[in-house]
Amino acid sequence: MNENYGMTRRDFAKLLGCAAVLGLVDVSGAASQILGDGEKSLFALANGTARTEGEWRLTRIEGKLPPDLNGSLFRVCPGQKETFGVRMKHLFDGDAFLSRYDFRDGKVFLKAKFLETPQRLEELQTKRMLYSEFGTAKPAPPADYKRKYAGKNQPSVNVIRWDGKLLGLSEGAHPTAIEPTGLSYQGEWDFYGTLPKDVSFTAHPKFDPVTGAGYTYGIKKGAGLALTVFRMETSGKLTNIAQLPQKDFFMVHDVTMSENYLIFVIPPVKYDLPTLMSGKATPADALRYAEREPTRILILRKDGAGAPIEIELPAAMVFHHGNAFERNGKLIFDSLLTPDGSVLQTLHSLANDKIPSSTPNNLTRFTIDLASGKLESRTQFGSNHEFPRFDARQTGKETKFLYTAGAETHGFLESSAIMRHNLQTGATKTIAAGRNRIFGEPVFVPQTGKMAEENGWILAQGYDARRHESFLEIRDAGTTDFAARVWTGNYIPLGFHGNFYAA
Ligand SMILES: [Fe+2]
Repeated sequence: MNENYGMTRRDFAKLLGCAAVLGLVDVSGAASQILGDGEKSLFALANGTARTEGEWRLTRIEGKLPPDLNGSLFRVCPGQKETFGVRMKHLFDGDAFLSRYDFRDGKVFLKAKFLETPQRLEELQTKRMLYSEFGTAKPAPPADYKRKYAGKNQPSVNVIRWDGKLLGLSEGAHPTAIEPTGLSYQGEWDFYGTLPKDVSFTAHPKFDPVTGAGYTYGIKKGAGLALTVFRMETSGKLTNIAQLPQKDFFMVHDVTMSENYLIFVIPPVKYDLPTLMSGKATPADALRYAEREPTRILILRKDGAGAPIEIELPAAMVFHHGNAFERNGKLIFDSLLTPDGSVLQTLHSLANDKIPSSTPNNLTRFTIDLASGKLESRTQFGSNHEFPRFDARQTGKETKFLYTAGAETHGFLESSAIMRHNLQTGATKTIAAGRNRIFGEPVFVPQTGKMAEENGWILAQGYDARRHESFLEIRDAGTTDFAARVWTGNYIPLGFHGNFYAA
């Protein structure tokens, strides 16, 4: 095809995508052209470059939209996997691409667009990659070119509503304020001057369903390296509740919380400083997994009082947690641990034709005795999961269900199923995506006016490789029964996280 028409396969895919969005072609019939492009894994196919920006009413719906589903699912992903000829190497690389599914009056609308950060606009204007990404170095710029900004802050990991704002979160820097209707860039946000310039902000703050306050943290960089913990007051400001000094670079992606405690799990991931300082390596090139060092659990009172409990485990890699709760003097929480650092290599192989699979992770329940500060037990109840979600109204309380994107056969990134774990019985229900399909994070959406965990919906974006098309799957959270599948006519990379906010 490219010989005859002077088009690359990429051009053709783009044209096909535009035509599909406009309803000019049936994407299901033409998708084999794209699948035949190589032997990429489903995970790589699902995390390519976003296809089309715009706003649409989505009408190709299998099943029936729940009539009480009213509100918006905001998602964000790294949406550009090639910048002016440079292929992104790391799953975390690429400009933030936002999507918003709006449900109202039994209809569903989609708005999707890149976030026009000043750095993205500068690159578009100059038609060159001017800023290195987490795992991809920029080419040498022309000698006379002086770029305008220190670096890129990619809010492509998570997106939350807070204090009337939509905040895109990168975890490496401050949040980015985004206008929630038009999804336009507003600027970095420091919570009315209460987030210091040298402190980053996690992509996973947690919110207390009783008080409405949030709990968040960042890394104080430079001298006085510390895990810095804040309460997000309902006024919109942050209150610093703890400053926990750390000896060495540390990575902590998520936090979980019970009624009285915040729990951090810190894996032994370090930077090799000579590599990092060489000027020839990206941060991802310099990451090292110190397999002889412990993974540390830090348990801090939410009021910041006293010294945190610290427990050491054999080295394990950790990203995400489930819920946490207290019962009879014990603190119980669920977490996903991988027994080695292989996932770091997997994440950094996105540009490879063959992505190395990583060691399966384990969904693990920890029980800590609060009086002695000792680990009482750890039990494992499943492998190959990611993106754990639960009914956020039950944050800090014992929950019956945990939902994950799970892989039945391959590495956990090939999430071929949504899984619902009954944490009381140990039973797991598996909702298989089906052949050539993959699911992203399953977001729990409560049914209006109903408080039980059984009364909700699970919304998970999926990707169908045969159609080369994204869809949104809606399931009854109580029964896991199919409710609806909304086809987007578009390709939105699967990415990481999102959240639903009722209208
Ligand atoms: Fe995450």
